[in-house]
Amino acid sequence: MAGIVEQILSLATMAYQYVLLLLDICRLIFQTTILYITAIWHIFKPPPPKSVSGEIVLITGTGHGIGRELALQYSRLGAKVVCLDINEVNNNKTIGEIKREGGAAWGYKCDVSNREDVRAVSQKVRDEVGDVTVLVNNAGIMPCKPFLKHTPDEIERIFKINVFAHYWTLREWLPSFIASGHGHVVAVSSICGFMGTANLVPYCSSKFAIRGLMEGLVEEMRYGGRNTNIKFTTIHPFTIDTGLAQKPRIRFPVLNPITTPAHCAEAIIDGMRRDYETVCVPTRDYYLHIFTGILPNSVRKVFLDFMDTGVDEHDT
Ligand SMILES: NC(=O)c1ccc[n+]([C@@H]2O[C@H](COP(=O)([O-])OP(=O)(O)OC[C@H]3O[C@@H](n4cnc5c(N)ncnc54)[C@H](O)[C@@H]3O)[C@@H](O)[C@H]2O)c1
Ligand SMILES: *[C@@H]1O[C@H](CO)[C@@H](O)[C@H](O)[C@H]1NC(C)=O
Repeated sequence: MAGIVEQILSLATMAYQYVLLLLDICRLIFQTTILYITAIWHIFKPPPPKSVSGEIVLITGTGHGIGRELALQYSRLGAKVVCLDINEVNNNKTIGEIKREGGAAWGYKCDVSNREDVRAVSQKVRDEVGDVTVLVNNAGIMPCKPFLKHTPDEIERIFKINVFAHYWTLREWLPSFIASGHGHVVAVSSICGFMGTANLVPYCSSKFAIRGLMEGLVEEMRYGGRNTNIKFTTIHPFTIDTGLAQKPRIRFPVLNPITTPAHCAEAIIDGMRRDYETVCVPTRDYYLHIFTGILPNSVRKVFLDFMDTGVDEHDT
């Protein structure tokens, strides 16, 4: 008698677990379907851009190129911009231009690869401007030559500026984002953060590292739903005519247009204001990347040869 009761009980427990599993799967399917439809809907009708007016936006590498344009455009949207560059002459020019337009800007000479420098400048920013609410890690270098021609010092320098600088600025500003439950981190990676490229091996690996840093942070912040109000956006530009890529090789400029720094900055700010996690410039490169990602390796290589895009070796 006792044996039968036990059997019935264990059967009932098993059935109960199956019902729970089934319900959980139903919920998952329902949830993902809704999110899928919303995501497709957003391709055609993007979510509205948030305001950046009144935000304190710190941007690195504002003396030239994309960083300079970002500073100008964030200022035009009503943000207070904090401009960091190792090149004080150029950075001062950017500050001057923003002030002439009636914007609010603060300039600081800073070697972002230097921990102590970042620490000291951040303290000054805290005292003179206030707590940063948007951090844009943009400064980067791109030495371009075959793997064995890069000197060890150069390889370290690429990682110090392109990767470690992000750590030093994040260590300064992420705590106040977490404390206030408000903040946005933007990292400028590259299309080279998605695909390896000849003559750019250290650069590519530094840009891949940024993706790991940002994806890891996103997961850590949303873990347990604790800091979901802090947003992260990683930017993957193709060639932008700032002079950084001195000898770009592009077989079909119609398919792979070179973008101006102004358009690039516009795309970055637009993606950031819509809280996108991944932004390619031009934006449609995102789909190209997904497309090449699902190809078999051999097909992908033939496709890359067909597109024949890359950079040729240059000295600086
Ligand atoms: N230009 C492109 O084709 C392209 C493509 C993809 C990604 N990117 C990325 O965009 C970012 C900006 O590139 P860009 O083309 O505007 O470059 P740029 O050379 O025009 O400007 C970079 C700025 O960063 C500053 N800088 C360099 N090292 C610094 C340091 N240690 N501390 C502080 N400031 C420093 C420079 O003085 C300069 O003002 C980089 O991270 C780059 O890798 C550029
Ligand atoms: C840049 O501007 C600051 C503040 O106006 C000034 O102190 C500094 O000397 C300037 N630097 C250069 C190199 O022009």
